[in-house]
Amino acid sequence: MRKKMLRTLMLALAACLSLPAFAQDIALPTDYLPTAFHKKQRQAFKEKMAPNSVAVIFANPVRNRANDVDFIYHQDPNFYYLTGYQEPHSMIILFSEPQTGADGKTYDEILFAQARDPREEMWTGRRLGPERAKTLLDIAEVMDHGAFKEAEIDFAAFEEVWFPQFHNDVRDTPNDADLFDLIKQFRSKAGIPEDFNPRKHAIHQQIRTTAPDFYQSLAEEIFGTTRWNPELKDDPIIQAFVNANSIESRKKIAASIPPSNLNPQGLSNTMKQLREIKSPEELKLLRKAVSISCVGQIEVMKAMRPEMSEMEIQGIHEFVFKKYGAEYEGYPSIVGAGYNGCILHYIENNRPSVDGDLVLMDLGAEYHGYTADVTRTIPANGKFSEEQKLIYNIVLEAQDAGIAASQPGNSMRAPHQAAKAVIDKRLAELGIIQPGERHNYFPHGTSHYVGLDVHDPGTGGPLQPGSVITVEPGIYIPENSPCDKKWWNIAVRIEDDILITETGNENLSALAPRTVEAIEQMMAQKSALDNFALPNIDNK
Ligand code: GLY
Ligand code: MN
Ligand code: MN
Repeated sequence: MRKKMLRTLMLALAACLSLPAFAQDIALPTDYLPTAFHKKQRQAFKEKMAPNSVAVIFANPVRNRANDVDFIYHQDPNFYYLTGYQEPHSMIILFSEPQTGADGKTYDEILFAQARDPREEMWTGRRLGPERAKTLLDIAEVMDHGAFKEAEIDFAAFEEVWFPQFHNDVRDTPNDADLFDLIKQFRSKAGIPEDFNPRKHAIHQQIRTTAPDFYQSLAEEIFGTTRWNPELKDDPIIQAFVNANSIESRKKIAASIPPSNLNPQGLSNTMKQLREIKSPEELKLLRKAVSISCVGQIEVMKAMRPEMSEMEIQGIHEFVFKKYGAEYEGYPSIVGAGYNGCILHYIENNRPSVDGDLVLMDLGAEYHGYTADVTRTIPANGKFSEEQKLIYNIVLEAQDAGIAASQPGNSMRAPHQAAKAVIDKRLAELGIIQPGERHNYFPHGTSHYVGLDVHDPGTGGPLQPGSVITVEPGIYIPENSPCDKKWWNIAVRIEDDILITETGNENLSALAPRTVEAIEQMMAQKSALDNFALPNIDNK
């Protein structure tokens, strides 16, 4: 039945009946991040704040898929990391020092949580409500999100106000405490204008606070920045400062800029520092997500048959994810055979038969928020051809070099430099490129952090124990490339998730076979799906 019709009917019914309270103690998984983790991270966050500062973090928006169907809700990872709260239309305010409210209560954090609403909960699921959120999430102060509108928080009184980047993708709904309204109310209370541009704001404040001796170098630096950020070119203050020809006129421009306590960088910079280093509680979930994804690769290796479709292969991976209780995929699954493997973020997965080609499979289970990012490339027919094997082994050697370079203290670029050197050298040896030639066969980076996001935030500084990065070199040779045809449509990526340790690293995804021999051996094994056949339903 269509939801809208059913909903109208049920709302009418519900008006006549009093709805039973939902049972609160049904059996749920017990291995989520513990409340104490989120509390500890909030504390760590507050300790990194400037004195007399406030930070505001919002839940993710609900996004519409079509008509009255929304996309499955996914919480904003920063908000989840700091609260453990999974519901939309909410926000948390963190203070660097305890505040005393009008009622005399003292708190250094306030969560504005969704109100309970039995009718809505019947349709869209249980809500904690402010009272239960306060106890279960152990947050000092929790209020109904509707209370933010009247909350007397004087943002002007703080040295710094930290907040996220806002995007124009939040819908207003009839509820006047929805995310749209929370953001609008916050912007109004904190004095963030409609056309606020974080980059422009940072440059204005730099101009205001820089000593006159450094005006010239600042002007040159800003001029460089405007080349890559055309929106800065139209800003009258920036233009006047860059084009001014005397210290005096620059002084006047600087003096015309009012001071501001708005700091749009503080929140994201602090989250980068915190989220780069995984705590033991996080690593437990991340290891599980990675192991689940490896089992997905193994089961597909065993089950693969040349007549399978890309989508069917995707389905086997995702069935394994669900079987282990992984709620989502951390990103849209990529299963690309032959040429499709050359499309880096190929997600259509609609080729009917993978026969004859290498199949590149880049999939990550998301388990209780943490996502893996694992790629294996295997031959549809169970055996690598000579050409496929040669390219595969170059990528494998590049990956080994990248993993070896993933050492504490090394730069974040070190794995890429090591992997790229191998690929350049070996492609030249095969005559696919000339020695020293620039080429597009390895067009992406080798490493990114992985965690709550597949492309997790981090500082990009020297590798640190406790961070998890991918090492994922690849070679992609699409049809019509300027090399011998025998290489065309070979695409290989091998991607593992590497924990940096005190003494080196640990490959968290080592469970999934990686060498030609190990893959061929696994593919020769029987699968529980060998006899799985479905009836023909080709309707007339
Ligand atoms: N799966 C996306 C990536 O490898 O970065
Ligand atoms: Mn990746
Ligand atoms: Mn990937």
